[in-house]
Amino acid sequence: MPKPLILVQLDTDAQPSVFDGVVAVDAGVQHLFRHSGITAENVRDRVHGAIFTRGGDDLRYTALFIGGSDVAAGEAVLKAVKKAFFGPMRVSVMLDSNGSNTTAAAAVLAARKHLDLSQTKALVLGGTGPVGRRAVLLLAREGATVRVASRDAARAEQVCVDVRQAVPAAKLSAHAAGKPEEAAEVLKGCELVIAAGAAGVELLTKESLAAAQGLKVAVDLNAVPPAGIGGIEAFDKAVERRGVVCYGPLGVGGTKMKIHKAGLKQLFERNDAVLDAAELYELGKSL
Ligand SMILES: NC(=O)c1ccc[n+]([C@@H]2O[C@H](COP(=O)([O-])OP(=O)(O)OC[C@H]3O[C@@H](n4cnc5c(N)ncnc54)[C@H](OP(=O)(O)O)[C@@H]3O)[C@@H](O)[C@H]2O)c1
Repeated sequence: MPKPLILVQLDTDAQPSVFDGVVAVDAGVQHLFRHSGITAENVRDRVHGAIFTRGGDDLRYTALFIGGSDVAAGEAVLKAVKKAFFGPMRVSVMLDSNGSNTTAAAAVLAARKHLDLSQTKALVLGGTGPVGRRAVLLLAREGATVRVASRDAARAEQVCVDVRQAVPAAKLSAHAAGKPEEAAEVLKGCELVIAAGAAGVELLTKESLAAAQGLKVAVDLNAVPPAGIGGIEAFDKAVERRGVVCYGPLGVGGTKMKIHKAGLKQLFERNDAVLDAAELYELGKSL
């Protein structure tokens, strides 16, 4: 008889995320162990608790989920978790700190419905944040030509350097575009724009969106007014506005939730899955 499904929620915040807990239960998790204040330094004993209890085939009925608002801290925890595994002594693990992986995957999947990404020139505004840099990575993996924008070109260049480590053939360029008028300039010639800037910051105006020649798809991930791209409504889901197919933050939210739940379910299919941005994106393609 299969053992009950246990998810160990490893949260880097002082309180474990209620959102992540609810999604886990809705995804079919039977027992949720919620741990907060997780760091790269203190996670090893939690991992040992997960891998030294159920053995052999039963290891796959225990899994780990890394969450919390600090994405860099979550990435460090994932590294430490993988280091604590050895040989066959491992369980599956998913990283989705601050929803960064599932959000970036949902944004790129939305664009993929309308474009051949391998032939697409894309601009990622706010490309240095956790969501933006993942969107850049996923687009680069698909063969897109990607312009990475930041208020600071050096920060954008660092993202290009990091993404090239994972995708050596990535076609990337770094751009300084903090102000909407600068973003409008960098947008010229692009078929896709993804706005992954900070909450409540307008990165591109409604007028620039309407004037953009050749732009086919625009995705805005900022749910806090004003919109990251003027003229896009939060619930837009493949809504055509002046010839551009638009998605708002809540328009991609349904796909994000589907990927999150499917990721959690997939954790229990084997004991050695590591679900990060690329794996969750690939999973999203199959939904
Ligand atoms: N729907 C969801 O479930 C969901 C989940 C996660 C995130 N989100 C949304 O997705 C977006 C991206 O998330 P994130 O966590 O990656 O964002 P973030 O780290 O807060 O910001 C992303 C980038 O925006 C730029 N930025 C910050 N303040 C700015 C300003 N005043 N003017 C221009 N640029 C500014 C920064 O880049 P530079 O400093 O390099 O310019 C930063 O790296 C946010 O709007 C967030 O709310 C939605």
